[in-house]
Formats: sequence, C-alpha cells, structure tokens
Amino acid sequence: MSREEFEFERRLRRRHPTGEGPEGGQSPPPGEKGGEAPLRGMIVTVDGPAGAGKSTVSGELARRLGYRLLDTGAMYRAVAVSVAAARLAAEDTEALRAHLARMQLTSDGTRVWVDGREVTGEIRTPEISELTSRLTMLKPVRDAVTPLQRRLAADGGVVLEGRDTGTVVCPDADVKFYLDGTVDTRVRRRHAELAQRGVTTSLDAVRKEIETRDEQDMTRALAPLRKPADAIVVDTTDLTAGEVVQRMLEAVERRRCCTRS
Ligand code: DC
Repeated sequence: MSREEFEFERRLRRRHPTGEGPEGGQSPPPGEKGGEAPLRGMIVTVDGPAGAGKSTVSGELARRLGYRLLDTGAMYRAVAVSVAAARLAAEDTEALRAHLARMQLTSDGTRVWVDGREVTGEIRTPEISELTSRLTMLKPVRDAVTPLQRRLAADGGVVLEGRDTGTVVCPDADVKFYLDGTVDTRVRRRHAELAQRGVTTSLDAVRKEIETRDEQDMTRALAPLRKPADAIVVDTTDLTAGEVVQRMLEAVERRRCCTRS
C-alpha cells in the first residue's frame, strides 16, 4: 500500500470509526444521532457495461472502504444455474414463476447458494452467461431478485456492482458510479480476463459477445442499463484499475465530508 493510500485509509477510519467491515455498516441504535460521521456505512453503487472493469474495481473499492461487496450479477447467474438444473425453458413463464417462488436464493455478497447448495463454481460458464442474459430480461426473475438485493444492501456499508444498482435496486444510494470505456478497450480486457481463466477465444468472438450484451442490457424493457442521473461517470479507457479505484475513493471521501455537517 502506498503512503498516499495509507493516509487515505487512516483519515477514513478517523472520520468514520464504525465504517469497517460488515458489523461497521450497521445502523445506529434508534434515537442515537450520528455525531461527526454518519454511523451507518454508505451505500455505493457501481453500474456499467460488460468489460468496463466493474468487478475488479468494485472488489478493491469495497476492500479499501472496509465495506461488503454485493455482486448482483452473481445472483442472477445463480438463478440461471437453478433454472438450467430444473430443465425449465425461460419462456415458460408459469413454470418459471412457480420455480422462483420455491427457490431459496442466498448470497454472502460474492458467493451464491440455491436451496442451500453453493453454486458459485458453476455460474461463469458460457451457457450460464447466455441463459442469465435471457433471464434478466424477464419480470418474474427481476421481481424475485431485486427485493433480496435491497435487503442485503439495507444496512449500508456496501458496494453493489451490476447494471441497475443505482437506478432500480438502490436509487437512494449515497454514491453512484457509472463506469464506461470504449468497446475496443472493453473487448481487450474481457479477452485478457478469459485468457487468464484458461478460456481461449478470438478477439472477434469477444467483440461480438460484448456488442450483443451491450445491446441486450441497454435496450431491454426492464431495468435497462442506464447512467443514473446523479452518477459519477468514470471513463476507464485510459486508466489502470488502481487509478479508477483511487478516483472512486476520493469521490466517496468527498461525499462523506459533505454529509458530515
Ligand atoms: O455482471 P455479470 O456479467 O455477472 O452479469 C450477468 C448477467 O446479469 C448479465 O447479462 C447482466 C445481468 N445483470 C443484470 O441484468 N442486472 C444486474 N444488476 C446485474 C447483472
């Protein structure tokens, strides 16, 4: 950790002594007003298109703030695993509704369970990505998952990462980010990320996947990917992940200073 980072975190702790870790994000007891700093940890949202670097920076941002990370995409992916295992067609709305009503979805922020079975290791296959993309366009699916995400965020001290976290899940979030980047950059990043995971594919195939997902995410009728009106937009094209996180931390800190009086 650089000296600058160390100083930043030290200031953060001094100003926000209870803001560390999940316990630090709890609301103050009824009737107790925050003094210098708000006692409840903030709700921070990070939205943006595929390949904008959301996962990398959201994880690091949460770690540096001592907040929990809520990967909202992982929850939709878990639903897809469960729908696939039940051999349901996404189009069979009635069967899907009944399945969702029975299904027990749980998340600790990054790991996910369906009916008590951890499915985290199964959620990132190409088949599940494709099914997730189709399922997230459906109302019964969003109706089942959004309230759970809201509950998981309610105590604050959390960074939510996804496509609709600042617009639909937590429209009253304290700080909202929208990460963007050129298609070329996002394609290169996603290609490198896949290569790191041992998946060999061409740049052209990744470009097609990114363009299809952009189109689906931005044009779907329900909870489409949009820049929240009050979001801080970070163009990540020419920035390293570290630089993006640093900008985000500074924005959170500015926000904290403004809300302290
Ligand atoms: O971020 P991800 O690739 O893990 O997301 C998986 C899919 O879920 C992707 O198609 C976008 C969608 N998604 C969504 O519709 N709303 C969210 N809040 C998060 C993800």
